[in-house]
Amino acid sequence: MSDISDRKDDHIQLALTSDHQSLPGGSFDRVSFEHRGLPELALSDIDISGDFLGKLTSAPFIIGAMTGGCDNGERINQHLAEAAEQCHIPMALGSQRAALEQGLAQKVRTWAPNATILGNLGATQLRQSGVELAKRAVDSVAANALVIHLNPLQELIQPDGDRDWNDVLEAIQNCANQLPVPIIVKEVGAGIGPITARQLVDAGVQWIELAGRGGTSWASIELARNSSSRARQIAAPFIDWGMDTTELLVSVRSACADVNLIGSGGVRNGVDMAKCIRLGAQMSALAQPFLAPALESSAAVIEKIEILQEQLRWTLFLTASKNLGALRSAAIVQ
Ligand SMILES: Cc1cc2nc3c(=O)[nH]c(=O)nc-3n(C[C@H](O)[C@H](O)[C@H](O)COP(=O)(O)O)c2cc1C
Repeated sequence: MSDISDRKDDHIQLALTSDHQSLPGGSFDRVSFEHRGLPELALSDIDISGDFLGKLTSAPFIIGAMTGGCDNGERINQHLAEAAEQCHIPMALGSQRAALEQGLAQKVRTWAPNATILGNLGATQLRQSGVELAKRAVDSVAANALVIHLNPLQELIQPDGDRDWNDVLEAIQNCANQLPVPIIVKEVGAGIGPITARQLVDAGVQWIELAGRGGTSWASIELARNSSSRARQIAAPFIDWGMDTTELLVSVRSACADVNLIGSGGVRNGVDMAKCIRLGAQMSALAQPFLAPALESSAAVIEKIEILQEQLRWTLFLTASKNLGALRSAAIVQ
């Protein structure tokens, strides 16, 4: 197994524990809907379906990026992909770097021939290898869009991480101009703020996944893998570095009125999803909550999806919102 695969296995094991999750009481808890005691609707009237990249989704959420599906990630991705296909929920792959560098099979389309599948590469790989690598990532899985992740903090904490972030924006711009599918730029838990969002939009990016603080902490995960005392001392103050997801939804939406936003980073249930939509996101995404079910079976992932859908449906009902359009103007209490 390669170093990248070993690292990915460590990530999965560490991400499963609650030690590397933000504590409860995060930014989603600071936003509340006005409870509507008179919904004047039946639960069966509620429609949570939506549209993502021109295709119908049964609900406005994405299975977030976790593994490219090589080695031990294959079982995880098979279960996620089969569930995505059956439930009409889009699925984001984790980084395809190892698969592309090592020429490994990527089987996601055998499990999910019709689902919306998002490819994934790190921004610094794109800077090094250019649009050709991005095209290979898309073609190898017939991706409906390519996700490019920005993870400068994670790279700093990784002992062998990439420390040269020059010219990354230009590499992203080249992808936005030359790829046949849309690109989505995301963080991995520290968030994309209004200045970065503006730079991305000016470079031609139309979709941003915020991946803010409040869920999985990559600083914490990478720190747990780093045994050097000196490195741990340097990294310690950065453990909570980042910007909260709900606050980013408001500030990025006001800085970039037309960009399509995906709210993520600490989304844990259907109520959180509804808050993302209400605060200006087109979609939401959850990664870590799908990890344990994905290790078990596709039935477990399907059950998780159905629970999230029902929580979202209840939230629309209790805010007197018949559909996602109505949810966007549901009353919130400050
Ligand atoms: C086990 C695991 C592996 C991940 N690998 C990737 C990855 O390869 N590429 C990526 O863009 N994000 C990756 N992420 C980050 C997630 O997509 C997401 O942005 C982040 O975990 C915050 O969302 P969450 O709080 O719902 O977990 C990974 C997350 C987890 C839990």
